[in-house]
Amino acid sequence: MIDVLRELENRREKARLGGGQRRIDSQHAKGKLTARERVELLLDEASFEEFDMFVAHRCTDFGMADDRPAGDGVVTGWGTINGRMVYVFSQDFTVFGGSLSETHAQKICKIMDMAMQNGAPVIGINDSGGARIQEGVASLAGYAEVFQRNILASGVVPQISLVMGPCAGGAVYSPAMTDFIFMVKDSSYMFVTGPDVVKTVTNEVVTAEELGGALTHTKKSSVADGAFENDVEALVEVRRLVDFLPLNNREKPPVRPFFDEPARVEPSLDTLIPDNTNTPYDIKELILKLADESDFFEIQEEFARNIITGFMRLEGQTIGVVANQPMVLAGCLDIDSSRKAARFVRFCDAFEIPILTLVDVPGFLPGTSQEFGGVIKHGAKLLFAYGEATVPKVTLITRKAYGGAYDVMASKHLRGDFNYAWPTAEIAVMGAKGATEIIHRADLGDSEKIAQHTLDYETRFANPFVAAERGFIDEVIQPRNTRMRISRAFAALRGKKLTNPWKKHDNIPL
Ligand code: HXC
Repeated sequence: MIDVLRELENRREKARLGGGQRRIDSQHAKGKLTARERVELLLDEASFEEFDMFVAHRCTDFGMADDRPAGDGVVTGWGTINGRMVYVFSQDFTVFGGSLSETHAQKICKIMDMAMQNGAPVIGINDSGGARIQEGVASLAGYAEVFQRNILASGVVPQISLVMGPCAGGAVYSPAMTDFIFMVKDSSYMFVTGPDVVKTVTNEVVTAEELGGALTHTKKSSVADGAFENDVEALVEVRRLVDFLPLNNREKPPVRPFFDEPARVEPSLDTLIPDNTNTPYDIKELILKLADESDFFEIQEEFARNIITGFMRLEGQTIGVVANQPMVLAGCLDIDSSRKAARFVRFCDAFEIPILTLVDVPGFLPGTSQEFGGVIKHGAKLLFAYGEATVPKVTLITRKAYGGAYDVMASKHLRGDFNYAWPTAEIAVMGAKGATEIIHRADLGDSEKIAQHTLDYETRFANPFVAAERGFIDEVIQPRNTRMRISRAFAALRGKKLTNPWKKHDNIPL
C-alpha cells in the first residue's frame, strides 16, 4: 500500500517538473514564470484542482514514442478567484515548447466543456510554439476543436486570454475569439505569419516584437486589451478583472462590499467643464469621481483614446463605462473608437452588465481616410450595439452631443433608460459656427451679422433644455450630485426586463 502511495507521489513530482529543471531555468531566465507558477498566482491559494496530470501524447513518429512527458505540455483544471470558480489552462513551454498536440487539445476542450456546463469563466494562459509539428494534421484538428468551443462559449461564459510567450500561426485565433486578451511586454507576441515569412513574401524586415509584441497589439492593431510589465502584474490584474464579471450569462455580476457613500457630493465637478466650450478636459476625472473608491478597470487604454471603456462599481455593482474623451481628437467618434466601444457594449449586454455612457462628442471625425476606411459601417457597429442592448442604460451628457453622434451615444431614442444632462450640455445638429455658415450663407461676407447669428444659434441650442422640453433628456442635474443621481438610476433599474424580438441572430454590420 505504502509503495503505491509513494508511486503516486513520484509520478506527480515528475509531472510537476514538466520538461525538466534545465528548461524551467531557461524559462525563468527569460523573465517568465512556469505554467504551474502562473496558475498558482492566478488562483486563490491552494484552490487549484488539476485534471489530466498524467495524460500523455500518442504520437509515434520522429522518435516521439520514447518521449511522453506526463501532462503533455498543458496544465488544466479549476480553482477559485476570490472564492468564485474559474476554469483554467496554462501551456507549459518547457514541454515541446508548449506546442499543441491532439491530447493537449483534448485537455483544453475538456475544461472548456466543463466550464460551459457549470457556468464558470475560462482563463487560458498561452505560451506555445503552435501546432505540434510531429503530429501534423492531428494537431490542426485539435486547434479546430478548441476554436469551435471558443465560439460556442462566446456569450455563455466569459473567456479571458493571457498571452505570456509565443502565440503564432492559426493558434492566434483561439485567443482572438475570447472576450479579452492581455499580453506581457517584451516576452509575448502574436502573429499569423512570423518575421521570416513576412520578409520572404513582402520583403519587409521586422522583428517579432515590432510585428506582434504587446505594444503593437495594444496601440496599433487593438488585438489585445491590455499589456503588463511582467507575468505577476498580468495575473494580478486578471484576478481584478474577474472580480467585475459574472460567472456566466445567466448570473448577475457579483456585488462587492463598498465603503464609499453613494450620495457622496463632489463640488469639484461643478467646475469640470471649462468656460470655453472648445477647451478639452479629462473625462477620466469624472469616471474616477463617480466610481466606488475610484476603482476603474480600463479596457483598451492605449487604443482609440478618444473613447474610454472599462468597468467600475456603483454601490458595489459592476457598471460598464463608455465615455468620449475630449482630450483626444476632441472626443470625436471615428472608425477605431466606434469598433472599440461597440465590442465593449456587446460584451456588457451579453453578460448583463449595466452601461453608463458619458457623452461629450462633437460628431464623427470628417475626412477621406475615415470615409474610405468605412466609417459608415464601423460607426453603425456602435449604433447597432447600443440599440440592441437590453441591459440598464444610463446616459449623461456633460457638454457636446452633436449630430448623429448624439443619437449613437445611448440616446433616449436607442432605449436609454435614464438620460441626464448637465446644465453645460449642448445638444444640436452641429456646432453654432458650422450651423450659421450653412443656414446664413448669404451673410458670410458680413462678420457682424455672422457673429449675431452664431450667438442666436448658441442661445437657442447650446443648452440641454430644448431636448429636455421634448423628454429626450429626463432631467438636467447638478454636476456635484452626479454620483448620487446615477447610483439611484441604476438602483431603480435592477429589476429591468426587456427582450428583443425573436431571431436566430442579428446581422450587425461587421
Ligand atoms: C514541436 C516545438 C514546437 C512545435 C517549439 N518546439 N515549437 N516542438 N512543435 N511547434 C520545441 C523545440 O523543438 C524545443 O525543444 C522547445 O520547443 C523550445 O523551442 P526553442 O526553439 O528552443 O525555443 P525558442 O528559441 O524560445 O523559440 C520558440 C519558437 C520556436 C519561436 C516558438 O520554437 C519556433 O519557431 N517554433 C516553431 C513554431 C511554428 O512554426 N509552429 C507551427 C506554427 S503553425 P527542445 O527539446 O529543444 O527543448 C501553427 C498552425 C496552427 O501553429 C493552425 C491552427 C489552425
